[in-house]
Amino acid sequence: MNKMLGLSAYLGLYDRWAERRLGQVHDTLIELAAPRGNTEILDVGCGTGMLSCRLAEIADGSVVNGVDISPCMIRIAQKRGKRHCPKAQFQVGTAVRLLYSGGQFDLVCSCLLFHLLEDSDKERALREVFRVLRPGGKYVCAEFEEYPVRFWGGELARYPGDLIGAVGFDMHTKVAGPSITRNRPVVYRVMLKPE
Ligand SMILES: C[S@@+](CC[C@H](N)C(=O)[O-])C[C@H]1O[C@@H](n2cnc3c(N)ncnc32)[C@H](O)[C@@H]1O
Repeated sequence: MNKMLGLSAYLGLYDRWAERRLGQVHDTLIELAAPRGNTEILDVGCGTGMLSCRLAEIADGSVVNGVDISPCMIRIAQKRGKRHCPKAQFQVGTAVRLLYSGGQFDLVCSCLLFHLLEDSDKERALREVFRVLRPGGKYVCAEFEEYPVRFWGGELARYPGDLIGAVGFDMHTKVAGPSITRNRPVVYRVMLKPE
């Protein structure tokens, strides 16, 4: 699956798809995230860096880190960063073992990452987001609504919605958005790490 995404990134197809389909999802995510200036922000599963760069533009003086498992995606994100947002930094890495220190970030975002993770990795990834957030920090997650069929070998029926309390986030808001592909509504969750 990631190889497919990496290849489409390499061919420039992913960015064209993302520009058409994801702009609106990023708009909603940014609205819920309400990024502030002079903070540290992490975009997990950042892809080609579209969302990271928008966050860097809006949150003046903030440092935005984007991490993605695909070297192809990161190469494109780095090019985008050099051209448009020098305040964004991009690294190859996995969501299930983030390369950052505990309590480093004020805000973490992810857009359409979780459905690509193995079920066994979903809780680990959510725990990693919790670890790298500072107390009082915010996590905004945009993901497809639970989808009760197998898809690219991954079970989408298990969504980390159930895990939010278990991991330690003490509040979440759920906002339903429109589908970006047929029958697949996107849901936005805002979670706060307790002070
Ligand atoms: C559908 S794309 C969305 C990209 C980006 N968030 C956006 O909104 O444009 C999902 C991204 O998650 C990345 N990804 C998948 N598994 C990952 C993992 N374990 N750790 C980090 N990134 C991962 C993929 O390489 C891909 O770039």
